[in-house]
Amino acid sequence: MTVEVTPGIIRKLWTGEAGIFRDHLLRLDTESRRSRFGSAVSAEFIERYASRVFRTGAIVHGCFVDGELRAAAELYPMGDVLPGEAEAAFSVEQEFQNHGLGSQLLERVILSARNRGIRTLCMNCLAHNRRMQQIARKFDAELSFDTDEVVAELTAPFPTALSLAQEAAADAQGMAGAVLQAQRMATGRLFHWLMPDPAPVEPELEPS
Ligand SMILES: CC(C)(COP(=O)(O)OP(=O)(O)OC[C@H]1O[C@@H](n2cnc3c(N)ncnc32)[C@H](O)[C@@H]1OP(=O)(O)O)[C@@H](O)C(=O)NCCC(=O)NCCS
Repeated sequence: MTVEVTPGIIRKLWTGEAGIFRDHLLRLDTESRRSRFGSAVSAEFIERYASRVFRTGAIVHGCFVDGELRAAAELYPMGDVLPGEAEAAFSVEQEFQNHGLGSQLLERVILSARNRGIRTLCMNCLAHNRRMQQIARKFDAELSFDTDEVVAELTAPFPTALSLAQEAAADAQGMAGAVLQAQRMATGRLFHWLMPDPAPVEPELEPS
């Protein structure tokens, strides 16, 4: 099924949002779930995975469409083990794929990586995942092919005052978007409370 995708809000997820991240991952169809995790995984696995995501130091960007998290990009800095390197993973719900969300998220991930001194960004995907390989190529990633896996490696530029300002501006915009969205939802609920749907009109009975 294809849907009209209105441009959503892209922002970093907060640590208290592990639940909405989990719900997004659970909504992935079987094939997308396999592509995201490299093999079939259970709902229990996803629950455990999502509950730990923010404890690993990951930075998760989310794309919200009509207030619902529909796509996410996870950036995992390797820390002291391999300073300057990080891994990234992407998930876009099926109806929202091929609308540019993955590409926009990769752009944000590169900016965040760059501003944290990460030069090498790795993305693993299955060999048949042409869409992921295509978006990696757009950002000049080098692809190395194994039998059933492809590793896309790209080099992020050094941070500059401008790149730091760009991330700060994106964060501020994301925060403003989230507040507006929350206000819109609260107004909708208030309106519904003040103006509940009218009770269904009973059909008049014909006199017998
Ligand atoms: C892979 C994924 C992240 C891409 O995100 P997306 O929002 O669908 O991708 P975009 O719309 O930004 O870009 C898709 C690109 O692939 C191209 N494409 C689509 N189908 C293709 C195919 N069969 N072969 C080659 N290119 C293809 C599109 O033309 C587009 O390229 P363009 O922008 O140069 O025109 C998303 O589809 C997804 O989450 N899939 C399931 C999980 C997954 O595979 N994760 C990646 C491993 S971690």
